Amino acid sequence: MASRATIAIVGGGLMGHGIAQVFARSGHTVHVHDPVQAILATLHERIRRNLTDLGQDTAAAERVTAHDALASAVHDAAVVFEAGPENLALKQKIFAAIEAAAPRNAILASNTSVIPITQIMSALRYGERALGTHWWNPPYLVPLVEVIRTPLTATSTVDSMTALLQNAGKTPVTVDKDVPGFVGNRLQHALWREAIALVAEGVCDATTVDTVVKSSFGRRLTVLGPLENADLVGTDLTLAIHETILADLDRTPGASPYLRGLVASGRLGMKSGEGFRRWSPEQQAAVRLRLLEHLKSLDHQGI
Ligand SMILES: NC(=O)c1ccc[n+]([C@@H]2O[C@H](COP(=O)([O-])OP(=O)(O)OC[C@H]3O[C@@H](n4cnc5c(N)ncnc54)[C@H](O)[C@@H]3O)[C@@H](O)[C@H]2O)c1
Repeated sequence: MASRATIAIVGGGLMGHGIAQVFARSGHTVHVHDPVQAILATLHERIRRNLTDLGQDTAAAERVTAHDALASAVHDAAVVFEAGPENLALKQKIFAAIEAAAPRNAILASNTSVIPITQIMSALRYGERALGTHWWNPPYLVPLVEVIRTPLTATSTVDSMTALLQNAGKTPVTVDKDVPGFVGNRLQHALWREAIALVAEGVCDATTVDTVVKSSFGRRLTVLGPLENADLVGTDLTLAIHETILADLDRTPGASPYLRGLVASGRLGMKSGEGFRRWSPEQQAAVRLRLLEHLKSLDHQGI
């Protein structure tokens, strides 16, 4: 693949515009397709605002073009990233349209959060050039991209995608088995399941759960992964802890009834003003700002 290959993004929402920004910043021509006019109309403005906020040159936004027809966005692309809604049937439909319009050798990638890539790509004629690329929000600040292979994905496809992402400054990792949620979301939601169970069982309130994480092991996580940590304390101590604790952790084989209750009662989190806890508009703004500033500071430190 040419080092400045043309990139197409299908879906220009939260993730799509951020992925477009990453490639435009590293010198690629980027075509973005979205069926919603308002999304296309604000595409450049959203990218420019991000670049300005990061103190970066906004000229990169000029390498991005907006397309209301999918075929015009993908027809000359070397790589197509799909960032449409998280819906299997819709993603399958989008990939049928992409395969019909993109070059035969284009690499096709889905940014699904948790849907197995094999299912999304099941009807493709040429599955060897298809894989998953799971980015994290915001794509221009969070380094990781999980590159997920299906049983059909060619090793050369994984290698080309990995090189492309590395050249764009990202941290790609390969996921060898296409399991729901891949690696990052499985780990994240294993933690969330226990967090919700602690509140549901009355062990502590939601604020306490968050304080415990942020003020203890959360502090270590950017420099010490869980398995590095297990090696640090010793696998023997890890085993002793697991012998006592694992049988007691939540193993509900579905979404928590407590969580279902929140949703059923309209407590949808910040967007409704209350979820696990209440949120004033000022508190919401403070959380969002604190998160962005934190991610920016890690980015400046090269973490
Ligand atoms: N938001 C996150 O933190 C995050 C992180 C990683 C992965 N993802 C995944 O990335 C994908 C996009 O998520 P998002 O948060 O950007 O959602 P979003 O709603 O902001 O963007 C989705 C975009 O897809 C467009 N769209 C709708 N129908 C389409 C079609 N037929 N063809 C092309 N585009 C269409 C919508 O107009 C919208 O602009 C989802 O699969 C999501 O699960 C999201």
